[in-house]
Amino acid sequence: MLEEDRIAEAAAHVRNTLGLDHPAKVGIILGTGLGGWASQLTEAQSVPYAEIPHLPQATVSSHQGALWHGRCNGLPVLVLQGRCHLYEGYTPQEVCRLVRLLGALGVRTLVTTNAAGSLNPLFPAGQLMRLTDQINMTGSNPLTGPNLETFGPRFPDMSEVFDPELGRLADTVALEQGLRLERGVYVGIQGPSLETPAETRMYRCLGGDAIGMSTVMETIAAAHMSMRQLGVSCLTNQNLPDCQAPTSLEEIIAQAEASSRQLTLLLEAVCGALATHQ
Ligand code: HPA
Repeated sequence: MLEEDRIAEAAAHVRNTLGLDHPAKVGIILGTGLGGWASQLTEAQSVPYAEIPHLPQATVSSHQGALWHGRCNGLPVLVLQGRCHLYEGYTPQEVCRLVRLLGALGVRTLVTTNAAGSLNPLFPAGQLMRLTDQINMTGSNPLTGPNLETFGPRFPDMSEVFDPELGRLADTVALEQGLRLERGVYVGIQGPSLETPAETRMYRCLGGDAIGMSTVMETIAAAHMSMRQLGVSCLTNQNLPDCQAPTSLEEIIAQAEASSRQLTLLLEAVCGALATHQ
């Protein structure tokens, strides 16, 4: 079966199940520890990934696995509560099926969130960081193989993946909300092992400010579909090669949950601003 057909069937199922004539044009991906926010949407409806044809199931318990449609601060949004990762054994194409589903439903603006380790000595754990760019260190790419012409071109441009205007809007609302929002480059690795001190030093030397095991595949697929993108990392731990402390998933989830209030405030303010700007 063609990937385009799988996505078209998944999109038809979501449209029919939720009775969506005019689905939201803004999509939000909730990362580790941040999924709880979906239940705060108003006029909310959801469908579990398990009921949508062709969707891979999230295998990690920190990702719930449901697609939501609702409103945030008046703005209609489609929300992915949970995502799939390469380290679970999914192919790049499977990892990107959810974001392509959003595209097929009509999403043109994508807000991606994740939990990430800080590589920048000036960005402590607990901080939010807006992605200005990314480095794909997974060794994979979701666009290999025959090009999906209905989604985008063979060689998509990546010179400005994260939309500067959307970034400035996020900076402005963060300032208004009294939230500190750092800016930096996200390094995406396959995982699931965390980094050694030598790898941490290398990724920092390569220009990374934050590192995580998600996002880069989806960002490439969304760029292929010409989506306008905003990315925000919740920095859950700081990796400093000369005094690297052990990190556990429990710690990452606990810190992401502790910082989710800040991220929630930012997401709500961004949605409010988009509701008035669109
Ligand atoms: N490394 C990779 N992925 C992560 C980290 C990290 O330190 N923290 C949260 N996700």
